[in-house]
Amino acid sequence: MSLSDLHVEQLRCIETAELALHPGFNLIWGDNGAGKTSLLEAIFLLGRGRSFRTRHSEQLIRRSAQRLTVFGRTAGPKERGVGFAFDYDTGIEARVDGLPIKSLADLTLAVPVQIIDPGIHKLIEEGSHRRRRWLDWAVFHVEPDFGEHWYRYSRTLRQRNAALKTRPADARPWEPDLVVSGEHIARARRIVLHELERHWRSVLAALNCPRADLHYLPGWPEGTTLADALDSARTRDETRQITTVGPHRADIRISIAGKPARDVLSRGQQKLMAAALSVAQLHLLKESVGLVPLLLLDDPAAELDATHLTAFVEQISTLGCQLLATALQPKIQGFQVPDQVFHVEQGHVRPV
Ligand SMILES: Nc1ncnc2c1ncn2[C@@H]1O[C@H](COP(=O)(O)OP(=O)(O)OP(=O)(O)O)[C@@H](O)[C@H]1O
Ligand SMILES: [Mg+2]
Repeated sequence: MSLSDLHVEQLRCIETAELALHPGFNLIWGDNGAGKTSLLEAIFLLGRGRSFRTRHSEQLIRRSAQRLTVFGRTAGPKERGVGFAFDYDTGIEARVDGLPIKSLADLTLAVPVQIIDPGIHKLIEEGSHRRRRWLDWAVFHVEPDFGEHWYRYSRTLRQRNAALKTRPADARPWEPDLVVSGEHIARARRIVLHELERHWRSVLAALNCPRADLHYLPGWPEGTTLADALDSARTRDETRQITTVGPHRADIRISIAGKPARDVLSRGQQKLMAAALSVAQLHLLKESVGLVPLLLLDDPAAELDATHLTAFVEQISTLGCQLLATALQPKIQGFQVPDQVFHVEQGHVRPV
């Protein structure tokens, strides 16, 4: 899959930009604050419906503008036109081939995109939310009915939580549905995580990182069913007025010789390990469903020494992904010569 055209309007410092992308390696260079990361954010919006930098999408709308829009055309096995808009008043509006989407999962499938940016170590360092999202992105692509179960689980969870706040006795009827979709989500995640661990370990070895383990924590006591866990948590859930067990509380334990990775790794090592998690997903998708997503690299040379950078570039080049990388100069150390170069200056983009 590759993106052939990108059109951006009113996003951060970019008033308007039009890019014809190469299916191979695209390099976007420019000074600090020129708008390089903003362009990657635009592409990420098309495939995820959110930014990788902020949870507040309104920050993305250009100052004094009302609405940002991004349009992209994909090439490859499935040619698609994908449009995304975010408006102060009306929120998100997204279309695939002119049709409004049912959920963000439709964008995920239309524009499979992965990012490795300077904040990637947060995947290891910070809370479980990022790790669940990381895992689910791969599960969406590999397990065909995951999206449906995920959607049903989220909806039922909202209903049970609403009942816990108003009439706790009404919470119970939602549980059978919650259990069916919740157990399905856990099963699908476990299968995919197991496969990911295999790929991750071989990427780690290639990057000269220590051997590490991934373990899925389902969000309720291991060895019990979700139905039993909901029963046992009932009094607590009624007191806190929220569902405290289930796959929405799941996590992935990342450990090295039995210790949490975040406690034993340097920042640079965390960055490599986290980047390896994303690269492992790309290997898995290629192997299991023949999908080659597009890969965004924001300032990939930052914080990596020359040896690790070379090993990292080698790992990526075996994938055959369309690449979009940013840099402060018109070339990046360790990388091949780009197929297409864009220069960005104060929000203006032009091909070089
Ligand atoms: N909502 C907004 N409206 C207008 N400008 C904004 C908005 N949000 C951010 N900016 C500006 O957009 C500019 C581009 O930011 P961006 O992060 O894309 O730059 P960059 O080229 O990636 O820089 P760096 O090399 O430092 O990473 C910044 O100067 C920032 O102040
Ligand atoms: Mg940047």
